[in-house]
Amino acid sequence: MALLEIVAASKSFATTEAVYQVSLSVERGEFFALLGPSGCGKTTLLRLIAGFETLDTGRIVIDGDDMTEVPPYARPVNMMFQSYALFPHLDVAGNVAFGLKQEGMERRRRDARVAEMLALVQMSDFSRRRPHELSGGQKQRVALARALAKMPKLLLLDEPLAALDRKLREETRLELTGIQERVGTTFVVVTHDQEEALGMASRIAVMNRGRLVQTGSPADIYERPNSRFVADFVGAVNLFEGALDASGLAIPDADRPIPLPGALRVSPGMRVALALRPEKLSLSPEHPAGFALAATVQSIGYQGGQSTVHLATASGLRLRAHLPSHAAQGLARGAAVWASWAPADAVVLTE
Ligand SMILES: Nc1ncnc2c1ncn2[C@@H]1O[C@H](COP(=O)(O)OP(=O)(O)OP(=O)(O)O)[C@@H](O)[C@H]1O
Ligand SMILES: [Mg+2]
Repeated sequence: MALLEIVAASKSFATTEAVYQVSLSVERGEFFALLGPSGCGKTTLLRLIAGFETLDTGRIVIDGDDMTEVPPYARPVNMMFQSYALFPHLDVAGNVAFGLKQEGMERRRRDARVAEMLALVQMSDFSRRRPHELSGGQKQRVALARALAKMPKLLLLDEPLAALDRKLREETRLELTGIQERVGTTFVVVTHDQEEALGMASRIAVMNRGRLVQTGSPADIYERPNSRFVADFVGAVNLFEGALDASGLAIPDADRPIPLPGALRVSPGMRVALALRPEKLSLSPEHPAGFALAATVQSIGYQGGQSTVHLATASGLRLRAHLPSHAAQGLARGAAVWASWAPADAVVLTE
């Protein structure tokens, strides 16, 4: 049985369909990420799970119990909010103990639990500090310890790393997955950062305008996106738009149709997009065997180990390739190249 089961959940605010007909299930012990652009309904969905909003229609079941009549404080859930403000007048230990005290946990057990939680997030040496005496990453860890202290079955985290700079975010991301593995609590984490979702989650649900558009493992979502939206939102992509015929996808630039990845059950003439990740594109000065597209190098962006090569075809179609920097070094702006790829590396998108 799944730990969290959401069945056809909808929630509107006046005329905004914040969450529309969302169904999903999260297994026990999963690190589940909700990913989507700003305003797509991520926070609203978390608030529905926690009980801070009521559903218009649908059902939320946690550990086999229907939550419809269960108030937020009685749900086996804790939520770490998008702005996770710590209590400024309490020290670190006081912040972590707060919920336990409210719950009426007896002093000795409470102290033991606080010590355990602070050790978990590696903040034992900071228990007497006040929040203003901590760095952003340290505050983040205290907020996490506070959220975990009541040992919820399900922990909801809304943009837990958003306040941190890039380097600290990467470190904290690793810590978060480590902590989740150790405590075994089921996590549902909201993010609008696709790299973060790909790097942390066991599964990802992608939302757009209140709807759930695709659910799968990070590799599923990245390698087999089911729509232009997902392909474009999760990672960089080259999209070729055109009409299908028996031998492939006809696009204005190519003298013959682009070969398709395997047999397709689609009607000829149908307009589709072919999605190709930039790292799947190879560039060569000579026409390689098989299909290739003529293109001109527009610019090369150096990113350390990897470089992004921006290209344009004669009709103005823009492409990007990710190459190891040593391979990109041989290219110059304005150079004419042939862009090619293995047909199986492309994905056909009908939506
Ligand atoms: N209390 C509310 N009253 C009216 N509209 C609301 C309310 N809460 C959210 N909305 C609207 O519902 C939609 C979804 O909002 P939500 O906060 O769930 O988005 P989000 O995905 O968390 O975005 P972000 O990444 O910016 O935090 C938005 O259009 C928002 O304006
Ligand atoms: Mg939000």
